[in-house]
Amino acid sequence: MLLLPLLALLLPPRALASPLSRAHTSAYSIKESLPAPPPGWAHHSPAPPDHPLRLRIGLTQPRFGELEQALWDVSTPGSDRYGLHLGKEDVEELIRPHEDSLALVDAWLEEHGIPLSALSRSPAQDWVTLTLPVSLAEALLDTTYHVYRHTPSGDYLVRTLQYSLPAHLHAHVDVVQPSTTFARLAPKRSTLHGAPVALASASTPAIPASCNHTITPACLKEIYNVGAYVPSATSGNKLGIAGYLEEWANMNDTNWFYQDLLPQAAAAGYMFSVELINNGTNSQNESDAGGEANLDVQYAGGVSFPIPNIYYSTGGSPPFTPDLNTPTDSNEPYAEFLAYMLAKTDKELPRSLTTSYGDDEQTVPYSYAVRVCNEFAQLGARGVSVMFSSGDGGVGDGLGPNDQADGPTTCLTNDGKNTSSFLAGFPASCPYVTAVGGTYHESPERAVPFSGGGFSKYFPRPLYQAAAVGGYLAANPAYLSLYEGLFNPFGRAYPDVSAQSNNFTVNLGGQFVLEAGTSASCPTFTGIISLVNDKLITSGRPALGFLNPWLYTVGHYGFNDITIGNNPGCFTDGFNATVGWDPVTGWGTPDFAKIAKIVVPY
Ligand SMILES: *[C@@H]1O[C@H](CO)[C@@H](O)[C@H](O)[C@H]1NC(C)=O
Ligand SMILES: *[C@@H]1O[C@H](CO)[C@@H](O)[C@H](O)[C@H]1NC(C)=O
Ligand SMILES: *[C@@H]1O[C@H](CO)[C@@H](O)[C@H](O)[C@H]1NC(C)=O
Ligand SMILES: *[C@@H]1O[C@H](CO)[C@@H](O)[C@H](O)[C@H]1NC(C)=O
Ligand SMILES: *[C@@H]1O[C@H](CO)[C@@H](O)[C@H](O)[C@H]1NC(C)=O
Ligand SMILES: *[C@@H]1O[C@H](CO)[C@@H](O)[C@H](O)[C@H]1NC(C)=O
Ligand SMILES: *[C@@H]1O[C@H](CO)[C@@H](O)[C@H](O)[C@H]1NC(C)=O
Repeated sequence: MLLLPLLALLLPPRALASPLSRAHTSAYSIKESLPAPPPGWAHHSPAPPDHPLRLRIGLTQPRFGELEQALWDVSTPGSDRYGLHLGKEDVEELIRPHEDSLALVDAWLEEHGIPLSALSRSPAQDWVTLTLPVSLAEALLDTTYHVYRHTPSGDYLVRTLQYSLPAHLHAHVDVVQPSTTFARLAPKRSTLHGAPVALASASTPAIPASCNHTITPACLKEIYNVGAYVPSATSGNKLGIAGYLEEWANMNDTNWFYQDLLPQAAAAGYMFSVELINNGTNSQNESDAGGEANLDVQYAGGVSFPIPNIYYSTGGSPPFTPDLNTPTDSNEPYAEFLAYMLAKTDKELPRSLTTSYGDDEQTVPYSYAVRVCNEFAQLGARGVSVMFSSGDGGVGDGLGPNDQADGPTTCLTNDGKNTSSFLAGFPASCPYVTAVGGTYHESPERAVPFSGGGFSKYFPRPLYQAAAVGGYLAANPAYLSLYEGLFNPFGRAYPDVSAQSNNFTVNLGGQFVLEAGTSASCPTFTGIISLVNDKLITSGRPALGFLNPWLYTVGHYGFNDITIGNNPGCFTDGFNATVGWDPVTGWGTPDFAKIAKIVVPY
């Protein structure tokens, strides 16, 4: 309240400054447009003019280049600044918008009758958020919002296919959401056996031979060479698990899981904690626990016990019902979660973070994907290892040369041209995250056919993987002609690593079921990284932070190279797993003892 008179005093001179008044008159031009709604979405009706939208305006970050350089410096072994992760204020300084951007955007909003007191801002001021009726958003963005229906799920969203900004604002605003983003975060898992499965032998950890078919925490510790390593529960190291879509993890199921499969965790009363973001859910009602959430917490905790785990339940919003004019429709994947995480103090941040959700890269508008990816860079610069599942469709839809499609192929571009294309996954394709693919079986461990992999069409290849990926393409030149036009050979390639991903024993709704997907490998791999961070922290060293520059230089020597298998999709065989890095399993699966020796040699 105290701020209001102050702002009022400041405004008139600012609005009168000459560059601003000239700027006021600039005409609108298109900021972003889509040729058509993405596959699965159909136009339903015009948006009700009084429907409230929670608009987020992302201002440009002119010093992002410096932030990126800092990320490489603190993450690359051998650099003077290796391990010297940035603090919250350091990062905020590097993503702060230019004063002109703040002034011009404020002036534009005020011109439309929006008082500055109605705006909320992120700590770095790079996001401006306000709630306003559709009619006002339409005037602001020279657009028309519509209600679109997602045919498979019956969900509704208020979106537009095109929006504009005054020409003078284009250089000051990266994105305005919600507008053209139709992305629907999908969990990367499937339940193989919904019916109860019998445990190999109840109340005793499964023996390694059974690990060839069904996975338990004991199997993973065996396969990934954890040995008798016991991490500290109190070093300050924490593991974060991101959950979306009203999924929450069931504590009774998880306790039951530990009683049968990790008795020392049950005996210690080990349990994840929960933080709710944007009205996320955590009902603990046995009948509607999330299959994804239970898988994630049971395996992240199963591998990293007794390191504290936190489940972040981010609410989407209740699905918009056009007839009822439901007053919330934010449903912007990542935005709420990232704002929440980046506002945390350095001490509060988990050192590793697993997310088993994603979407096809092309369904995420380019500007929004870049912005979200840049926010993961901020977490990396602050020393958080950010992991994402690589996806469950191989190079696209998971269909091999001999498979039958049960509908029109989805392996087409959505630029209005319907060109055949592999489908990269996002955020796995973001160069500032570590993408986790999938394996199965042991002795030998091999690529699972659904392991998501390939090349981004949005993000160019980062320097850290130039040699590894260039080497793969040089050693397998047939792909350049065989798959010409289907993938971008100059793109950021993924996954970076992999882990077991099939037949995971999960307690869900009081029953043991089997689940599969890179949803299983991501929390598993993150659990191992959390153990490595424990080793580092208890040796007085900084945590690993953003993994990739380390992984592609020295880290990969601590991985089991996976050389068997391939990842079919789009009626092709996909890519082959080979010696060294490949776009099926990355560098392979972690060997904890070897990695621990690399990071703490003596
Ligand atoms: C998964 O587990 C089921 C039930 O134990 C088993 O029949 C199947 O062979 C397993 N799949 C693989 C790929 O090992
Ligand atoms: C909670 O878990 C125990 C096993 O640990 C089980 O016996 C009990 O039925 C579960 N409670 C509910 C409400 O599912
Ligand atoms: C939060 O969720 C609850 C239950 O899902 C709902 O009743 C309530 O209206 C929501 N609150 C907000 C602010 O969206
Ligand atoms: C639990 O969920 C079920 C199904 O959604 C519902 O019928 C039941 O009333 C809920 N129980 C409680 C205690 O909320
Ligand atoms: C692209 O494919 C979609 C779905 O199959 C179809 O509706 C659309 O008309 C096609 N567009 C072009 C330009 O062929
Ligand atoms: C694991 O199962 C696969 C497929 O059935 C088999 O080829 C392999 O030999 C088995 N490995 C072990 C160690 O039993
Ligand atoms: C991939 O591996 C299969 C099986 O080993 C082999 O037949 C095929 O030629 C390989 N493809 C390429 C492009 O190297």
